[in-house]
Amino acid sequence: MRHILVTGTSRGFGQQIALKLADEQTHLYLVARSTSRSTRKAIRQKGGNATEFQRDLTDYEQLENLVSVVFSSFDPEDADFIGLVNNAGTLNPIGPLGKYEAEAYQKNLEINFVAPAVLTHMFVQKVQDLQTQKRVVFVSSGASQKPYEGWSHYCSTKAGIDMLMKTACKEQQKMSHPVKMIGFNPGRIETDMQELIRMQSEEDFPAVQDFIDAKTDGRTGSAEELAEVLAELVTAEEFPTGQVVNGKKLITES
Ligand SMILES: NC(=O)c1ccc[n+]([C@@H]2O[C@H](COP(=O)([O-])OP(=O)(O)OC[C@H]3O[C@@H](n4cnc5c(N)ncnc54)[C@H](OP(=O)(O)O)[C@@H]3O)[C@@H](O)[C@H]2O)c1
Repeated sequence: MRHILVTGTSRGFGQQIALKLADEQTHLYLVARSTSRSTRKAIRQKGGNATEFQRDLTDYEQLENLVSVVFSSFDPEDADFIGLVNNAGTLNPIGPLGKYEAEAYQKNLEINFVAPAVLTHMFVQKVQDLQTQKRVVFVSSGASQKPYEGWSHYCSTKAGIDMLMKTACKEQQKMSHPVKMIGFNPGRIETDMQELIRMQSEEDFPAVQDFIDAKTDGRTGSAEELAEVLAELVTAEEFPTGQVVNGKKLITES
């Protein structure tokens, strides 16, 4: 069996990733603050197995408990594949640095950077010595390379995650049983996050018109299509460890 933990699966891209990964050979561990009965039902219809965890990824104790419960629910020595997809993320707060209470910026750092970093650390501790295939995907963004005004914390946490992945991959090269890791940039995808972007004022997010136009011009990708690309990559024979993969480019090239 494959065992794959995916964060941020209650809606949007994470929900689609879970659906695309679901099959008879895979047990999924789905994490978000809210649960999704429709996701569980759709997974069952595909013959897949899923356990849902209602957890706030910004709570360290909940994270620790999550990893401990997941890894005690199967025998890692018997697994054919163990994976982690760090997908949960937030844009909030949107607006210039200095505008909101410090706590709002701190939450952004916790959801987008601290949680995936700590979760990956705990994952690596659990799987490092196993001989089975072990992989981590970090959902990145074009914003990791481009400083959008109004997204100071979103852009920097995504850049931080890219670098964490690259550094950890270098460390892993020296291990007897390396954990492979990639970043995955889906490009703009039609989810609640895009809707939130389009609702912003120019004052808080000066690039808002380009995102409104992107929806009209069909430049916003489908979450389902991009999730399919990511899901195929997770278990693909060729896994470009250490790289940030551009999902839309993979679709154009295929
Ligand atoms: N949409 C885009 O255009 C786009 C582009 C590039 C990259 N991305 C990246 O793709 C990923 C998914 O984005 P999306 O568009 O699907 O966003 P979304 O529709 O806003 O969904 C975000 C998911 O993260 C979960 N989440 C947020 N905070 C959480 C917390 N504290 N604890 C646990 N779960 C939490 C949410 O569930 P709950 O609210 O139920 O907790 C939800 O399932 C993010 O990493 C995002 O940065 C998106």
